[in-house]
Amino acid sequence: MRKQFFAVATLLIMTIAVQAQNSKPAGTPLYKNAKAPIEQRIKDLLQRMTLEEKAGQLNQVNGGVFTGPAANDPGQKAKLDLAKKGGVGSFLNVIGVAETRNAQQAVMENSRLGIPLLFGFDVIHGYRTVFPIPLAEAGTWDLAAIEKNATVHAKEAAAAGVHWTFAPMCDISNDPRWGRVMEGGGEDPYLGGLVAAARVKGLQGKQFDAEHIMACIKHFAVYGAVEAGREYNNVDVSRVALWNKYLPPYKAAVEAGAATVMNSFNVFDGIPASGNKYLVTDILQKKWGFKGFVVSDWGSFGEMINHGYAVDEKDAALKALQAGSHMDMEANVSGRFVPQLVKEGKLTMAQVDDAVGRILYFKFKLGLFEDPYKYSNADREAATLFNAANRAQALEAAKKSILLLKNNHEVLPLKAEGTKIALIGLYANSKEDMFDFWIANGTANDAVTVKEGMEKRFGANNINYAPGYMADGSTDEQLVKDAVAAADKAAVVVVNIGISGKMAGEDRALANINIPEGQIRLLRALQKQGRPVIALVSSGRPLVLTNIQDITTAIVQTWILGTETGNAVAAMLAGDYNPSAKTVMTFPYALGQVPVYYNHFNTNRPAPETGDASWKSRYRDIPNEPLYPFGYGLSYTNYHYSNLSLSSEKITRSQPLQVRVTVKNSGKVDGEEVVQLYIRDIAASIVRPVKELKAFQKVFLKAGESKEISFVLTGKDLSFYDGEGNTRLENGAFKVMVGGDSKTVLEKGFELQ
Ligand code: GLC
Repeated sequence: MRKQFFAVATLLIMTIAVQAQNSKPAGTPLYKNAKAPIEQRIKDLLQRMTLEEKAGQLNQVNGGVFTGPAANDPGQKAKLDLAKKGGVGSFLNVIGVAETRNAQQAVMENSRLGIPLLFGFDVIHGYRTVFPIPLAEAGTWDLAAIEKNATVHAKEAAAAGVHWTFAPMCDISNDPRWGRVMEGGGEDPYLGGLVAAARVKGLQGKQFDAEHIMACIKHFAVYGAVEAGREYNNVDVSRVALWNKYLPPYKAAVEAGAATVMNSFNVFDGIPASGNKYLVTDILQKKWGFKGFVVSDWGSFGEMINHGYAVDEKDAALKALQAGSHMDMEANVSGRFVPQLVKEGKLTMAQVDDAVGRILYFKFKLGLFEDPYKYSNADREAATLFNAANRAQALEAAKKSILLLKNNHEVLPLKAEGTKIALIGLYANSKEDMFDFWIANGTANDAVTVKEGMEKRFGANNINYAPGYMADGSTDEQLVKDAVAAADKAAVVVVNIGISGKMAGEDRALANINIPEGQIRLLRALQKQGRPVIALVSSGRPLVLTNIQDITTAIVQTWILGTETGNAVAAMLAGDYNPSAKTVMTFPYALGQVPVYYNHFNTNRPAPETGDASWKSRYRDIPNEPLYPFGYGLSYTNYHYSNLSLSSEKITRSQPLQVRVTVKNSGKVDGEEVVQLYIRDIAASIVRPVKELKAFQKVFLKAGESKEISFVLTGKDLSFYDGEGNTRLENGAFKVMVGGDSKTVLEKGFELQ
């Protein structure tokens, strides 16, 4: 009996041992070994993948919602089923812990190799706590704050399951008719580059820990030069302009370590950016050494057919990958045609492996193979989104972004206590009009309107409100009458004019960028009463403000400031914050001047600012000068510049130039001033702009305080590019100009020998 028992027991133990042996994989696959170098993990995984699975990684699909009622939606089911089969490498617009966890689980539990998804989303200026639009934020010239703001954008997005944002936009634009000027860093390549780099660093941090996300610099390249400011329009710029004006911000962002780059919709040199080898491979990957991956813009691979460049979808996929682009956002051509293109020998497996390998690199780098749900933690989401610290930071950012353009008789700041204020304007009391297209996961309801902010700061009984005009900016007899009546009981009138934030962003090009006629009529009626009229201009772009000059006492450009708008505007009007912003985009005198910008060429016949301008480069009906130039912005105090000095009048290539200037706060309140340094290369082998920003410092000066500010200029600052991207530094005469904007400057000459 005993013998039998032992025999059975032995048999049982051996059976379990054999089963255990079979269920244990023959060594965990290398790509699942967190200790192995990423490059080896990529190699191992690529060897295990089928060609179809590789094509799947190149496919990015617009996901949206997959849970709840959407779970039964045939279209949504088909997308998730494709992902379960390894046919999707990334979803965009799948946000929030619940949705991202659900989609990730579907892939991890059903796909053969368990390659986690990347979740991308447009976090352009905040995920849930919405910050000022990038164009306004860039006007703070405060790079440290810009970086810090981006860390909040990243922290909230990362807490909501998002791995990757399609930001920062690096497109230089000189055309306020283009709705997307709100997304960039303004018109200057140097400042634009610093701002883009700060945003990349803020978003990505040092490593992709759970509070940082991948950046995506866009739109590569030259999208901001769309003709006539019309969205998705043709682009035709020279290679000299490409290298000197448009590429520097992208280059700075790549050097800051941007993980990804997005193709632009437009052509360059007549070739669509998605299929433009010169841009995507020769410049971005070879000359700049970019190692991340390139994602198309929405459908841009397939849209090469519309351009007349690809003959069909298969050809589009081929041309995109041959040019060096990698992931296909929503054109659905790579996933379908790459296997065939390889089988036909038109694409090599090496090309496919390079593209797929670049995408897998970030999935490993983000730690998603170890923990696919690392970013999908419900408790963290609840604690992080829209918390007090984030709102406080958004308020700081909003205050610093407010641009004071005019302040006659120092009517601002308003006496905070006891001042009866008439607040006029539909937008001052409208939450949704305060947000642009890129509201991300923010909700208009979260926002503090101008009316709410002012009632809180000045006391509700001191604010008489009237809408004054309708949503389209038109007005009527009754609206004007009610506004005048509200003003009758006030000492000062604050009128929120401009255009709705809903007219800022993609697909929001406007041929008319004047202040709406109805608002002009309203201002006239209010100004006739003889009280000070303070205009708050809310818009996502510089509007033409020429025809409100004689019917306003002060003009404040409030841009689109996001969640904390009302608190920021009230603080600035009450003098709690002394405005310090300087516009990074020129305000035109008239639409007919556009494109108008500070760093223009001199032409063969530059017009004198005064005196006879016959047969010179000019208009007969308006001045050449814009209404407000790049770098311009007022303060509640005044700054006086003096004693500009150079360390030498002659320098060599190896000898830097020291530049010094004294800046005095000659007013009664403390403030911050952006001291700007421009150069001009008087004569060169390629004509150079009349001014180029090359340095700046934002300095705090107490009332009455003077400081000597110093800069160092090197050969690099004096260099420029030729049409092939070669750097040139040429001897000859230069000018240095220093001031508080690009127009009012002190200047000195020097010679590079
Ligand atoms: C849009 C935009 C791009 C955005 C993408 C995803 O068309 O051009 O900036 O990131 O699609 O929404």
